[in-house]
Amino acid sequence: MSERQTTALVTGASAGLGVEFCRQLAPLCDRIIAVARRADRLETLARDLEQQAEVVPLVADLSGVEGVARCMEAIRQRGPVDYLVNNAGFSTFGHFIEQPIDSQRDMVSLHVDAAITLCRAAIPFMRERGGGHIINVSSLGALLPGSGLAVYGATKSFLNYFSLALQQELAATGIEVQALCPGYIRTEFHEEMSAAGFDRGRIPDEMWMEASEVVSASLAALGSGRVLVVPGAHNLELARQGLVDQLAALE
Ligand SMILES: NC(=O)c1ccc[n+]([C@@H]2O[C@H](COP(=O)([O-])OP(=O)(O)OC[C@H]3O[C@@H](n4cnc5c(N)ncnc54)[C@H](OP(=O)(O)O)[C@@H]3O)[C@@H](O)[C@H]2O)c1
Repeated sequence: MSERQTTALVTGASAGLGVEFCRQLAPLCDRIIAVARRADRLETLARDLEQQAEVVPLVADLSGVEGVARCMEAIRQRGPVDYLVNNAGFSTFGHFIEQPIDSQRDMVSLHVDAAITLCRAAIPFMRERGGGHIINVSSLGALLPGSGLAVYGATKSFLNYFSLALQQELAATGIEVQALCPGYIRTEFHEEMSAAGFDRGRIPDEMWMEASEVVSASLAALGSGRVLVVPGAHNLELARQGLVDQLAALE
């Protein structure tokens, strides 16, 4: 019988949080399927991590069905996956009514359709193995509805509710589900938003976290039974206040 291999699939592995997930998962895995659109970046990552794990670059646009289908095929062929990290994401900035609808629909496809489809593809194999880890990268924005980010926040809110309910459904399987809700992280994420008027300079220094800290907090929370994970004490306080405000609005 062949030795049991540990495999991760990380989407959005060409930058930011995705690269960091690959780096921190590499010592725990034999193989990482690294998904994104920029092939050159995935090749560099594969070379950087080759001493620790085999990185299989998978070039795919996950806002379309074809790209998602290629990932599903990889889960069948190169998996089963023990870690599924649905991390690929982007945001626009500005009022919903001023945004081209295509960009908003792409965001829903990427954050929602791709994430649930990859969960649906990975879970039967995880169940067969008696366990696995699913990390859906959400956002603090899911808990704090805000102007300029209507569809972004709504897709991340979807991931929170989906993850909470999915964890209940999978309670007896050994599979754990996490919705990671970070605040501001220093990555390339805000570059396009800045071009649309988002002013990074207005965010105080102490509000920003490094990708490495966020990923450490996510992996450290595995096994804790917590589904919603908000890294950073300042972000946890904002999340609490956001929920209090939502409750107050009901009265
Ligand atoms: N940075 C923050 O402040 C922050 C805060 C809260 C939550 N988040 C969440 O964290 C996650 C990672 O963001 P990040 O900060 O690491 O941003 P980033 O540095 O901009 O990286 C985004 C990643 O997503 C990939 N991606 C984007 N569109 C894609 C598509 N259509 N198909 C496949 N891959 C795609 C990009 O790869 P390619 O361009 O090569 O395809 C890249 O690897 C996102 O889900 C984001 O919503 C970020």
